[in-house]
Amino acid sequence: MQDKTAIKDAPAGRSTGKSVFIRTYGCQMNAYDSERMAGLLRPLGYAPAASPEAADLVIVNTCHIREKASEKLFSELGRLRALKAKKAARGEKMTIAVAGCVAQAEGAEIAARAPVADLIVGPQSYHRLPEMIARAARERGEILETDFAVEEKFDRLGEAREATGPTAFLTVQEGCDKFCTFCVVPYTRGAEVSRPVEAITAEARALARQGVREITLLGQNVNAWRGAPPVGHAGGETRPGKGGLWGLGELCRHLARIDGIERIRFTTSHPRDMDDGLIAALAEEEKLMPYLHLPVQAGSDRILKAMNRGHTAADYLALIARIRAARPDIALSGDFIVGFPGETNEDFEATLALAETVGYASAFSFKYSRRPGTPAAAMARQVPEAVKDERLARLQALLERQRAAFNAAQIGRVLPVLFEKPGRHEGQIVGRSPYLQSVHAEGPSSMIGSIRPARIVAVTPNALAGEIVAAENADGALSSAGAAERDLRLA
Ligand code: SAH
Ligand code: SF4
Ligand code: F3S
Repeated sequence: MQDKTAIKDAPAGRSTGKSVFIRTYGCQMNAYDSERMAGLLRPLGYAPAASPEAADLVIVNTCHIREKASEKLFSELGRLRALKAKKAARGEKMTIAVAGCVAQAEGAEIAARAPVADLIVGPQSYHRLPEMIARAARERGEILETDFAVEEKFDRLGEAREATGPTAFLTVQEGCDKFCTFCVVPYTRGAEVSRPVEAITAEARALARQGVREITLLGQNVNAWRGAPPVGHAGGETRPGKGGLWGLGELCRHLARIDGIERIRFTTSHPRDMDDGLIAALAEEEKLMPYLHLPVQAGSDRILKAMNRGHTAADYLALIARIRAARPDIALSGDFIVGFPGETNEDFEATLALAETVGYASAFSFKYSRRPGTPAAAMARQVPEAVKDERLARLQALLERQRAAFNAAQIGRVLPVLFEKPGRHEGQIVGRSPYLQSVHAEGPSSMIGSIRPARIVAVTPNALAGEIVAAENADGALSSAGAAERDLRLA
């Protein structure tokens, strides 16, 4: 799960009647939740607003993962307080709600420090948002709604959902039981819960009907997903996992049968939950894209143990070898933390060595950030900031070289690209390769929403430049032969 912090604001729209603006920080899970909140509020008459200025209700969906991520909330609330006062002077009302992981972890503190927040709602209680909004309209003062009720959450969120393009997120799993010693997620998102196959399938079908071609299955530990097979599906070509339950591999195979769904991705996986069923699905299911985000965090066994990761560096490398044997062209991605308490130079060198051995197509790396309440925050031998800076710079230089090499290796190849939206320049369209690289090409907007073969002709810092080729000219240079051929037939 990537925390990109302040990535996407809610889409602009009409602002007749009441309107809501949602600012989203944090990972894809938060982006998904923001979409769901917008969906829940629509029946109450809230249309999406183009800006906080134009909105009657502003929701800040927060992230708690690192210190800087949570600080953003208070600066955002400062700006909103000024806006609210300006509106009040004009006789206009504005409601401010704080949602997400900071709301869950620090609800009481937000209420004390930022009384401008009218509502505080944790991720487990979004289904109660309409009721809270209605109550807030009647009463004054903030309302705290951060009690855990995870099972209810999935039940009550319903399936109504508007797709906003050819790709969509779909939450299949929530929460974390891993308790890495540095991480707040088990506290903000609660225990691991899997959504039932039927609900997931219904949502995927509804998305496909709206033109979605690619779904990304989301979960803090997505590959810990387990579920009872739907009635009539226990045997046949599927491989029931332990205790007759399906794992993520079986779920992906099942979703791949839905007409219209051409690509499936999933994120974020934990090395401990990467089972044979999922590796087999990666090898055999053409719609599963050859890209895997598999965070390792560190390369030193001593640090991995102190982090409570439950695997060694050798376990991780052996797992990567099995995955690569199953899907040779797989692009690997990961997360790293430098400067975990007690990390020595030697430990850090082991992280560099591991990254060197794996060869990542892309990766995210962070300085360890001390999170109150987590075991690592109380550990001795916290690493000085300057040392963390230096280590991060060295690791990022290595990961950046690997990313550039992976991208450069695509030049001359023909890749199936799912075009998602218009590009920055007139006549340009942008999409993704199977390896999740951004690809831009000259092409008509009518191609948006379809998978087209593109010959990669150049690499820019953040994207590949492609030329769309006619399907019959797409040669054998395709990376993942099966998937690519099928994509071309469709194009
Ligand atoms: N469930 C996912 C990730 C959750 S958070 C997983 O297990 O990979 C995303 C990333 O943020 C983590 O992988 C980790 O690299 C980073 N992260 C989490 N807590 C952190 C902390 N206290 N300091 C620095 N980075 C952290
Ligand atoms: Fe955090 Fe570890 Fe759980 Fe990932 S697996 S969410 S890093 S506790
Ligand atoms: Fe951040 Fe919560 Fe996601 S802490 S990374 S928004 S699960």
